[in-house]
Amino acid sequence: MSTIQESPTAAGSGASASENFKAVAAGLTVVDTPPERVAAIVTAVLKGVHGAIEEYDVTYPEFQAAKAWLMAVGDGGEWPLFMDVFVEHAVEAQVASTQHGTKGSILGPYYLPDQVKLGSTCQLPRRDDERGTPLVLEGQVRDIDGTPLGGAEIDLWQADADGYYSGFAPHVPDGNLRGVVVTDHEGRFEINTIQPAPYQIPHDGPTGQLIEAAGWHPWRPAHLHIQVRAEGHRPVTTQLYFAGGEWLDSDVAEATKPELVIDPQDDGTGVHRSSYDFELEPQS
Ligand code: DHB
Ligand code: FE
Repeated sequence: MSTIQESPTAAGSGASASENFKAVAAGLTVVDTPPERVAAIVTAVLKGVHGAIEEYDVTYPEFQAAKAWLMAVGDGGEWPLFMDVFVEHAVEAQVASTQHGTKGSILGPYYLPDQVKLGSTCQLPRRDDERGTPLVLEGQVRDIDGTPLGGAEIDLWQADADGYYSGFAPHVPDGNLRGVVVTDHEGRFEINTIQPAPYQIPHDGPTGQLIEAAGWHPWRPAHLHIQVRAEGHRPVTTQLYFAGGEWLDSDVAEATKPELVIDPQDDGTGVHRSSYDFELEPQS
């Protein structure tokens, strides 16, 4: 029997990311930005746009093409993808400038809350025939003063060995390679998973068209998404990357940091192992 492997189209992944984000946005606290600040920020954004038009002598056909493209991004549900690839890293950098302990990185469009809770030594949910190099990530969660944080949550989500995320690629079962790992009384954890593949932004929609038109590439290096939470501490949202991995130096989302690169080693049985400790600062 053959199985049909549907690869997620930009419209599929984009629409799922849009639906997911709408649900997230509905639960957000209303941003109460004063009018002077709204005016200042929007003026600065428009100034950038106007400046580019002047600098490059943008034509009417180019202006109309830009309008059509913006509409297509919305129609295809690709705004969450676009914003998280091209803009989020700048917002994250602002937040990071006041955060101590483990370095953060972008959340991206594929976080899903309320995944299965797992013990401190565990295997992420996976298909019986999940492919990919076995990977073990072990370590400790601590306060920045060194105190181990037992009962901390390591919320982990990742792409599979083909670069697809559960919940957004129709052929991957819900909850696959996602879980919330709870640290033991010493703050320790040991997570069994598989090595994710590099991720390619879905390229059959308007975001892909832009990338092609600009001669860029659509790749992010392989990464694990991790959010670490502990009571009384400021949570950190981050990603771990792999030493020597493709696209590490040219991430389309510009979200890599040298402190977030791990270098798993084969333990002699074909399992790649790496240690990484997370440090959280107290909630102010
Ligand atoms: C996107 C996807 C990711 O997996 C990620 O980490 C960041 C951004 C995206 O397609 O927008
Ligand atoms: Fe990702």
